Amino acid sequence: MTKTKESWGSRIGLILAMAGNAVGLGNFLRFPVQAVQNGGGAFIIPYLVCFLLMGIPLLFIEWSSGRYGGRFGNHSTPYILDTMTKGRILKYIGVFGIFTNIAVAAYYAYIESWTMSYVLHSVKGTFVGMDQSDVANFFLSYTDVLHSTTGIPYEAVIFYIICLSINVYVLSKGLGGVEKVAKIGMPLLILFGVVLAVRGLTLGTSGASETFPDANAWDGLNFLWTPQYESIMDLKVWMAAAGQIFFTLSVGMGTVHCYAAYVKSKDDIALNSVSAGFMNEFIEVVIGSSIVIPIAAGYLGMEWVMENAGFGMAFQTMPYLFQQWGPLFAAIAGVMWFGLLFFSGITSSLAMGTPCVSFMQDEFGWNRKKGAWAFGLVTLIMGLPTVFFFREGVFDEYDYWAGTVSLVVFAMMETILFSWVFGLKKGWREINMGADIKIPGIYKYIIKFVTPVILIVVFLGTVFAPKGNDWSGNIRSLFSGNGWPLDNLSIINKITNSGLRQQIANATDPVEIQ
Ligand code: PHE
Ligand code: NA
Repeated sequence: MTKTKESWGSRIGLILAMAGNAVGLGNFLRFPVQAVQNGGGAFIIPYLVCFLLMGIPLLFIEWSSGRYGGRFGNHSTPYILDTMTKGRILKYIGVFGIFTNIAVAAYYAYIESWTMSYVLHSVKGTFVGMDQSDVANFFLSYTDVLHSTTGIPYEAVIFYIICLSINVYVLSKGLGGVEKVAKIGMPLLILFGVVLAVRGLTLGTSGASETFPDANAWDGLNFLWTPQYESIMDLKVWMAAAGQIFFTLSVGMGTVHCYAAYVKSKDDIALNSVSAGFMNEFIEVVIGSSIVIPIAAGYLGMEWVMENAGFGMAFQTMPYLFQQWGPLFAAIAGVMWFGLLFFSGITSSLAMGTPCVSFMQDEFGWNRKKGAWAFGLVTLIMGLPTVFFFREGVFDEYDYWAGTVSLVVFAMMETILFSWVFGLKKGWREINMGADIKIPGIYKYIIKFVTPVILIVVFLGTVFAPKGNDWSGNIRSLFSGNGWPLDNLSIINKITNSGLRQQIANATDPVEIQ
């Protein structure tokens, strides 16, 4: 075993790398869609409560576990848990912290690779003169690898490989490489984000055309920000809010463990973790909600947004809307939008790669370069099915199992482990060691009782998700003796129906491109 002495170059480098880890495609693509689909202003309260009661505690847990493991020369979740639970079999749950990273990186890097190609197409003017359905079809054609008509054969595969190679290259440079990318990428993405957000906020009704006379960018913001208290009782909204908090803060995956393992043992983690967490929230809640939704509402109207809110909006709609600003500004906006997505993506995929490289260093004594290549190759092998069978739903399967279920399961286990096996007494001391802020004492009780209970509830909710996500309907059904109908997305049904085969069987015909 090599005991590396590597650590972060500076405090600002650490915060930017950790914020880069958290700030990702989730902030710009996932958050707005989740917010719209869960009632806009109704979503935001459960979301903030989940941030405070689950997000912040998990950040404290993962940062302090990581720094603790790092003190013993360990840098990846399996080894970190090993130092915390000496001699117990529990450490094997740490394998989640490696495997999930590779599985998420596989499909995450694929989206990241689209953004690179879309920057290029924005510059080339591919979207100039296209109408909405042309732009939408371009995306369908792009992701339909075998029948793609984008101009470059196998374009999606080529960009995927280029994207992974860039990740491998940076990872082979070690923490310094990650830090450098974060120092360049984070300020740029904030700059691009602010410019686009200002454009979104000042669009007003200027986008209104004869076809969409009711369009108004402010409708989007009003929808997102007018609090609605009724749906606070809706468990569905809570589950969605919890899921978004996991994903956006990058917890439950071992990336935070790994980055924190390189924090020097006397350095603060209390203030650093909260700073990185709040930076992510600012970029998500303020910037992330001021781009896609208001711009789409400004041209197409809020009704259109409600009906079409989905992850495709970023690629299928935005390039078309940018065209309304003339070819030059459309190209600039395209570069900014897809560039910001790229920087947010790469700082996150590097965070998924680092624990894997560190694991190979700790386990096999490999050097960084060899570890980085191994990570790239394994990710490529795992990722090609999502590239080739995107249309058959393989991508969604990865996102379900790796990007949703594993995060919940692992977060639940590590919290119980931290609070009850490692012991909160020791844990609280770890969190506060070297702290530059005083954490309110109430967090001691939150971490010990509230967070584990919420996580167990979220876990059970994922196992027993009710049909159609209709919680109140199911509760009524249960009390009237009609049982608890399960949703296809409940873990139980997923396993018994073997969702993947199901989806391939139901797969739609190849997309037609006009
Ligand atoms: N937090 C990232 C995002 O918002 C995604 C991510 C999840 C990154 C888990 C690393 C680990 O996009
Ligand atoms: Na995020």
